[in-house]
Amino acid sequence: MGGCEMPESSDDFRTPYPKCYQTKAFTRDGSEITIRPITPEDAPLLVEFFNVLSKLTIFFRFLRGVKYLTPKWIKRFTRINYARDVAMVAVEETEDRERIWGVCRIMRQPETTTGEVAVVVGDAWQRRGIGTILVEHSISIARELGIRSIWGIVSPENRKMLAMANRLGFSVQLDAEAGVYEIKMELSSGVPVSLKNPDAGGL
Ligand SMILES: CC(C)(COP(=O)(O)OP(=O)(O)OC[C@H]1O[C@@H](n2cnc3c(N)ncnc32)[C@H](O)[C@@H]1OP(=O)(O)O)[C@@H](O)C(=O)NCCC(=O)NCCS
Repeated sequence: MGGCEMPESSDDFRTPYPKCYQTKAFTRDGSEITIRPITPEDAPLLVEFFNVLSKLTIFFRFLRGVKYLTPKWIKRFTRINYARDVAMVAVEETEDRERIWGVCRIMRQPETTTGEVAVVVGDAWQRRGIGTILVEHSISIARELGIRSIWGIVSPENRKMLAMANRLGFSVQLDAEAGVYEIKMELSSGVPVSLKNPDAGGL
């Protein structure tokens, strides 16, 4: 990965778009995708992506039902402080248009070096390695931005995400009281992401 010259993390949303975090990858079945930071101009593509997600996928991503993305959410999801947070999309590019296939966010908790990770891949494109590619790439960027640990909340029924988290080297722990799993990874240790899927495109 390119190694962007990023300013110190601050609350400034005017950090320039870090094009150097853009890369090409291949899904396990050979489709070329672009992995890049999301931009405010992606709002229509994000809405289109959300609109084809199944209810179950939406539930697993948000841990509740969400009918549509409000303008406030769209703004929050697409307007990113690139020096502080990570928000990457996996995009299929054809001659005349782009289509989002997946999104991964690592949002820093204010004034900390801890970030919350959340990922979603559209139902039609799951099981092709895209979730893995997105999370791995997002973790590399989070490291560069000085994020030292990441965590996420996963529904106990979400076997796919639990399997993926295990394979990527997250610790996975049941929070019996809350009835959810907490996945965690320390990034400061320098331990590389464990998964190297030979079939999915490398980064
Ligand atoms: C979880 C999710 C992001 C995985 O994305 P994906 O692109 O399908 O993942 P990958 O193809 O990279 O698969 C990675 C690993 O996840 C596990 N996995 C993925 N799909 C699975 C399935 N249907 N059944 C069991 N394990 C599965 C496997 O370990 C898989 O590796 P393998 O196919 O080599 O066995 C995707 O299923 C999704 O968007 N789910 C709904 C939203 C969600 O759960 N988000 C998590 C909130 S933190």
